[in-house]
Amino acid sequence: MSGYSHLTVYYFSGTGNAKNVALWLSESAKKANVSVDVIAIADVNRRSITPPVEGSLVAFVSPVHGFNYPPVMLHFIAHFPKGRYSVLLLNTRAGMLLGRFITPGVSGISLYLSALILKLKGHRIQALFPVDLPSNWISLHPGLNPKTVDYIYTHIQPRVIEFAQTALAGKSDFKSVRECVVDLLVAPIAVLYYVAGRFMIAKTFYASRDCNKCGLCVRNCPVQAIRMVDNRPYWKFSCESCMRCMNSCPKRAIETAHGMFVVLAVAFSFLLSAVIYQQNNMAFVAHNSVLQFLFETVLFLSLVAIWYRLFHFLLRYRWFERLVVYTSLTKFKFWNRYKGWHQ
Ligand SMILES: Cc1cc2nc3c(=O)[nH]c(=O)nc-3n(C[C@H](O)[C@H](O)[C@H](O)COP(=O)(O)O)c2cc1C
Ligand code: SF4
Ligand code: SF4
Repeated sequence: MSGYSHLTVYYFSGTGNAKNVALWLSESAKKANVSVDVIAIADVNRRSITPPVEGSLVAFVSPVHGFNYPPVMLHFIAHFPKGRYSVLLLNTRAGMLLGRFITPGVSGISLYLSALILKLKGHRIQALFPVDLPSNWISLHPGLNPKTVDYIYTHIQPRVIEFAQTALAGKSDFKSVRECVVDLLVAPIAVLYYVAGRFMIAKTFYASRDCNKCGLCVRNCPVQAIRMVDNRPYWKFSCESCMRCMNSCPKRAIETAHGMFVVLAVAFSFLLSAVIYQQNNMAFVAHNSVLQFLFETVLFLSLVAIWYRLFHFLLRYRWFERLVVYTSLTKFKFWNRYKGWHQ
């Protein structure tokens, strides 16, 4: 017996995990004779969001990026209308397999921050539910093999369906709050990722000469963060690092420039220690940690912006392109791309 007559699911998904969770919620609702709307937030005008059906149970589903919801989801939640809806907050996280044990990801502040924003808008938080599906962060590690992905999916799907049934019946679920110590310990990293890390990661992507300029990555990016510059994909700072483009390029041409980023990081620390902080009038920055952080972040991101332009230009020269490609770990065969269910 359901406690609600309608369910509205808002989701953001890079590589399909969160989308699958949204669809499982929707299927569970239909089985319980609850009408349902499933809405991809990347397709919605976030400045004028149509409120869900009156009395609807509302679910938000999104991956965790840097121990927080990605900016696009936070932006959506920040613009979500005020009201008195009952809300489910779900995040998909980086599940891995250790023997037969699915190790959980880390939610960080994703669920708490969103719960706080929605609570301040008048809504009632009914559940905070993390879902451990395979990690898709393939800039950092090779994609999990298909057998592991299948194992994780097979074990996690029933948990989500069980959660959906109890949530639709009106029950709360706050078991995830048991992880709050770890979540709060990583909170400073979530802030660093939000103000600096994500911009840097956005500029690690490039297309190798295997790119045939099909334009699929440009068309499929959920936040329009790729444009063609000089007939080659160019990543903007607005990239959410959702990994969709890298995982779905038909030519496997999208890489992460690991080697080039190490060179840039070393050059930056040299510039700071051997040039900038040697100036007498910079002592006041070096002695104030907040000022130092702000100064170094702005300087680094400005450098990245200039460097990326130059990098993109130099990629047209074969020797440079080959140097970059062979210092990108993602180039090597063992570095799988990620494929979730139904992708
Ligand atoms: C840039 C980036 C940052 C991530 N940060 C986290 C994190 O902080 N904690 C975590 O558990 N998983 C993290 N992940 C893993 C994803 O949240 C996880 O694989 C998610 O299920 C992907 O969902 P999607 O397929 O709907 O995009 C991260 C992935 C990416 C690409
Ligand atoms: S999807 Fe791949 S091949 Fe097509 S334009 Fe993008 S990088 Fe090039
Ligand atoms: S550019 Fe690629 S990684 Fe960045 S948001 Fe678009 S699809 Fe995702």
